[in-house]
Amino acid sequence: MSFNPLAEKGIPVEQQFRSWKMLNVKPYDARNVDPYTRTRVICMNGIEVESIMFSHQFARHCGDMDVRRKLAMARAVEQQQQKAVNWLIPGEESTLEVTLGYEQVAVDLTAWLARTEPDPKVRMALEFALLEDFDHLYMYANLYDLLEGKKAEQITHDLTEIIPGRPTALHHRPPQDRVLEPVDFKVADPLSMMHIMTIVAAEQQTMNFYMNVGNRPTEPLARALYLEIAQVEEEHVTHYESLIDPSKSWFERNVMHQYHECYMYYSFMIHESVPYIKDIWELHLQQEIGQLHVACDLMKQHERKDPAEMLPAELPEPIKFQENKDFVREVLAKQVHLEKSGAGYKPIWDLPADASFHDFQRILHGDFVPSYETIGKNIEKNGKDYRLQTEGEHPVKAFRDRDAVPRAEGVIAHRDDLSGKAKSEAEVV
Ligand SMILES: [Fe+2]
Ligand SMILES: [Fe+2]
Ligand SMILES: [Fe+2]
Ligand SMILES: [Fe+2]
Repeated sequence: MSFNPLAEKGIPVEQQFRSWKMLNVKPYDARNVDPYTRTRVICMNGIEVESIMFSHQFARHCGDMDVRRKLAMARAVEQQQQKAVNWLIPGEESTLEVTLGYEQVAVDLTAWLARTEPDPKVRMALEFALLEDFDHLYMYANLYDLLEGKKAEQITHDLTEIIPGRPTALHHRPPQDRVLEPVDFKVADPLSMMHIMTIVAAEQQTMNFYMNVGNRPTEPLARALYLEIAQVEEEHVTHYESLIDPSKSWFERNVMHQYHECYMYYSFMIHESVPYIKDIWELHLQQEIGQLHVACDLMKQHERKDPAEMLPAELPEPIKFQENKDFVREVLAKQVHLEKSGAGYKPIWDLPADASFHDFQRILHGDFVPSYETIGKNIEKNGKDYRLQTEGEHPVKAFRDRDAVPRAEGVIAHRDDLSGKAKSEAEVV
């Protein structure tokens, strides 16, 4: 089924405003919701936030009053959309429960994007960071068990395994090593552009969320864990946003943002299981089409360029939240030991002894690593860590013991389990 937003009429922007009553939506049912409805809501909120902040930045860099007014108009609607989406999250869910939803987004969104990504460099970037958010889910699940005695699978169900990933302690690498080479959007597959824009917005939302809620717990260890993981999300935003083609103009980017929102609402509309939420996705899709037409007109008028030339004739393959257990396990077995090296990747044992990675790790960790401490304390309390392991033993031998904290040493021990080729060179591009 093909869909081209440029060929649709949509709703004109002037007709898009809604009353408080319409915006103050009924939250989803916290106890019975499909976890992938929650992840769609969390993800789409991030897409709207990115769209709003982009529009503010554009307006601050633009002196043309007509353009500023048109941006203000669309942006006020984007804000309404953001409220209607984010207000779907029920107050019954605690901050930590919403956090588990955020990391489930990160795992199953990233895994889907990686599986369907045509550009090997983009795919590698996704697989690399996938293993980190996968460990964050394990961390917060253990914190949830430790502080509240509750099981994360009440939130995530059995759709996503919760087992150790690349240990969070290893995610902290020198900021200059987080930057990747940009992708040339002129020649890139449109699907890659959609994937990059999606993952940047999702990671940025996670970063913003932890920046704001990370100080809400009273328990010092919980505050410390949010602090540590929040810093990784900064890293993930830097990692992914560096893939964006920097040569695009503000007007082109405006079109791409509106086109991307059409793509996301279309993707979620076709997969949504809750009827009244499906209706919201559908309404917002029609609104985005109207906003896209305004953005296209601005680009034609101010740059004398046809937006249809940089956009595909139909929406690329839609994004889908689904189980990715085997895929995540495969990436874990092949890549748990990778680290960044310049703009590329290397097995951790190939980093030289004087690599800045080691200095950076020493400065941050000192004698207290919140992520190690969280698992250690939960093992002390329950005799073993919390896991939701549905597909057999852990793919990394060193991480099979439930009564030992998964540490950097386990990653290094993984070397013995790799074939000769994988030992010495990263299976990467
Ligand atoms: Fe929007
Ligand atoms: Fe994360
Ligand atoms: Fe992340
Ligand atoms: Fe929009």
